[in-house]
Amino acid sequence: METHPVPPGDRHSQKQSQRLVVAISGASGAILGIRLLQRLKSLPVETHLIISQAARLTIRQETDWDVGAVQSLAAICYEPDQIGAAIASGSFRTRGMVIAPCSIKTLSAVANSNSQDLVARAADVTLKEGRPLLLVVRETPLHLGHLRLMAQAAEMGAVIFPPVPAFYQRPQSLAEMVDQLAGRILTRLGLEGPLAAEWQGLEGE
Ligand SMILES: Cc1cc2nc3c(=O)[nH]c(=O)nc-3n(C[C@H](O)[C@H](O)[C@H](O)COP(=O)(O)O)c2cc1C
Repeated sequence: METHPVPPGDRHSQKQSQRLVVAISGASGAILGIRLLQRLKSLPVETHLIISQAARLTIRQETDWDVGAVQSLAAICYEPDQIGAAIASGSFRTRGMVIAPCSIKTLSAVANSNSQDLVARAADVTLKEGRPLLLVVRETPLHLGHLRLMAQAAEMGAVIFPPVPAFYQRPQSLAEMVDQLAGRILTRLGLEGPLAAEWQGLEGE
């Protein structure tokens, strides 16, 4: 079979298209963002990570991780006030962005293009460039304002991906639920992973 060497330009754009922006905001469920980063580390993806100030608190409160160890899972890390960072510009090509978990505050910033910090700015850039943006919005119960913000973000092209477990897969632990959700998020981003078990239909159906 004839093989064609990849021109240097194409190699460059292949790498660029494998950049993924990951943000961890201060909603409950910091472990979801951490598990995603762990999973992404084994994939050919260059992760660009932002951890919000509030997420520093939830990471400490909810997990045994320290923030530095979480940051070491990513290829490149930014602080939320680094508004001049590469990922703040649409000219810096990425394959999309995921905010996991996504607080209502950050959802609101995204839905209103209130790009005061790097999380909201990178998300706005992702939307304006027509790239996939997944918002793992975690809050319950939801009032009408929350629902309207989600609708607004969805109308602009965001995927609203609340971390709702699939009970039909009978997860035996929180870790299993988190793995399952991380797998579903990766699948939705087009990054297939072995963590996302497929439903095979009810027995005998
Ligand atoms: C332990 C803890 C749990 C929280 N859980 C949630 C939550 O599930 N959803 C949410 O919208 N905010 C939650 N918050 C509040 C957010 O952290 C707060 O609104 C913060 O300003 C969000 O900022 P950020 O979006 O920049 O991270 C929680 C805060 C703490 C300390």
